Amino acid sequence: MSYFDWTPDLDTHIELVDEQHKILVRCINELHEANQRKDFEAEGKIIEDLIRYTVEHFSDEEKLMDDAGYPLSKQHKQIHQRFVDKVREIQQKRREGEDIGQELLGILHNWLFTHISHHDKGFIPAVQKYLAAKSSYDELEAEAAVRAAFQNPRRTQNPAAFPAFIDDDTAAVNQSENNNAQESEDIFSKARQNIKNLKIWR
Ligand SMILES: [Fe+2]
Ligand SMILES: [Fe+2]
Repeated sequence: MSYFDWTPDLDTHIELVDEQHKILVRCINELHEANQRKDFEAEGKIIEDLIRYTVEHFSDEEKLMDDAGYPLSKQHKQIHQRFVDKVREIQQKRREGEDIGQELLGILHNWLFTHISHHDKGFIPAVQKYLAAKSSYDELEAEAAVRAAFQNPRRTQNPAAFPAFIDDDTAAVNQSENNNAQESEDIFSKARQNIKNLKIWR
């Protein structure tokens, strides 16, 4: 069993996004292994790779959200930016000689798990609709993918575990999700309703 196991509730069923998330999870597991064997050189290199790859993933994900016209893209980007700032801050502490391995692993695990299984789920209906419209596949497949992404019961996460990432922006996201839940009863709005019911934004 690895430090961070991939479980089906993390699948967004958007191929590019899932592939990149799995690479991030693998980086976290490698970081944990380096930390366990006290290989500080390897640890430093993995942190750098992780930041670089995270920025790349966020950029791809943000483009997808924008192309799909996801209404909460702005807030989602702010959440991404705060995460990168936080990891860079910890990386700086490490450069100053602090042993940050465990702190960083805890934050990465909690944050990434919550972000993928809750925040990223928010854009799935919009992105699937967009991909279907682009005719990568048809609308029925898109609907099936949305259903699949929401079929697994989500584990709840205590928001107090990552207070640094919760602020007024996420409250705005919550409000907006609530408003959008009034949409018509198609599969996409049902998926949005699911997100609302998670009560993850505080
Ligand atoms: Fe993501
Ligand atoms: Fe994201």
